[in-house]
Amino acid sequence: METKNLGFRRNAQEEAILGEMRVKDALSQANVTTPAYIYDVGAMAASATEAARAFGTQRGFIAYAVKANSAATVIRAITSAGAGADVVSGGELALALTCQVPKERIVMSGVAKSDREIELAISSGILALQVESVEELSRVSARAQALGTQAHVSLRLNPNVRFETHSHIATGHDAAKFGIALCDVPAAFELIDRHSLTLQAVGISTHVGSMLTSPAPYLEAARIVCDVAKARQAAAGPLSFCDFGGGFGISYGEASCPPISDYIRAACALLKEYGLDVQLIAEPGRSLVGSFGVLVAQVLSEKHASGRRWLMIDAGMNDLIRPALYGARHRVEPLSGLPGLVEWKVVGPVCESSDDFGVHPFGEGAPSHVVVRDAGAYGFVMASQYNGRALPAEVFVKDGQIIAVSQAESPEAWVRRRAQA
Ligand code: LLP
Repeated sequence: METKNLGFRRNAQEEAILGEMRVKDALSQANVTTPAYIYDVGAMAASATEAARAFGTQRGFIAYAVKANSAATVIRAITSAGAGADVVSGGELALALTCQVPKERIVMSGVAKSDREIELAISSGILALQVESVEELSRVSARAQALGTQAHVSLRLNPNVRFETHSHIATGHDAAKFGIALCDVPAAFELIDRHSLTLQAVGISTHVGSMLTSPAPYLEAARIVCDVAKARQAAAGPLSFCDFGGGFGISYGEASCPPISDYIRAACALLKEYGLDVQLIAEPGRSLVGSFGVLVAQVLSEKHASGRRWLMIDAGMNDLIRPALYGARHRVEPLSGLPGLVEWKVVGPVCESSDDFGVHPFGEGAPSHVVVRDAGAYGFVMASQYNGRALPAEVFVKDGQIIAVSQAESPEAWVRRRAQA
């Protein structure tokens, strides 16, 4: 399949196309109302295949960060292209297992796992629990003892690497809550070795944060992982894997970002340089799915006030919180027809001033519908029912066909639940 035909594009009539289907046809054939997410699942699978191919002869796999888009249709498409999963809760783990992700390709991260989550991870026999503190190691050991078994753990290092991104999504610096500080690594191994009946170190991991725009910070952190892995192997025998995390950025309309394969190839070369014979794991989320989803909204009204043109749409910050939470910019375009030259401020119905998608170019008149682009990652998964709004519908398209639909929750369901609270 040719990658150039995948993802968002416009046909000769300037209509929005995703997954080789007109977005407006996807809406009507799926019988969903706006706001609705539409995804090109074929493009997501193709990006996973491309990432897997970049491993070449290097052993290892992509552990898809399920948090980016946890729809089963997406998980199945990506993992049937050979990927495993990176999960961060008992819910995500149970979902990955339900989607038949092979357990030996699942890693579980998270700074504050509950006892139940730790026990679920141990008893499901996943590749590793990625442990984020020395204190957590003691808790994992106690849970393994209670289950009468040995837990496979990986140390998630905090490599103290900073790079240019939004502070909310930078994780790999020493002021962040994530990971084991390098100065605590000896204590962590000492604890593991003291509890060898209940703990076995199988990997070394890291994740520096999200929206990297070059492999440099990724490799800087990966070197630290390799240093620790090399020393551990020399002292205590083989490890199964090194996991350099995810965080590969995508373009939201600005300068293009390096493809996933650039990061993977550089990671493979680094393992070779170190002579480390381990599996390589990478944990991309956004880069596999972000560009391949749109949020479609109906224009409810226009407003001319304060010397401005406003476009009031039926999608709000509860449906896509990234602009409100991170000041993120997503292109908002007409569903049909090209963007024009007139600036309109696009806002949603939620009673917060931050329910604001920014200023975007349209024509003199307001369009009937808009697409909010690059909404395949951290869109629906972060949606809420704030202001009594139902969670939006999702439509999954592949090669011009709808392959699954998840209907919006009904406003009545919200009323029923809140009426009982
Ligand atoms: N691995 C771990 C341990 C993570 O915490 C994350 C993301 C990933 C992998 C995947 O990162 P990605 O490849 O998707 O950048 N809601 C924010 C992003 C939060 C990312 C959280 N961790 C956003 O909308 O930008």
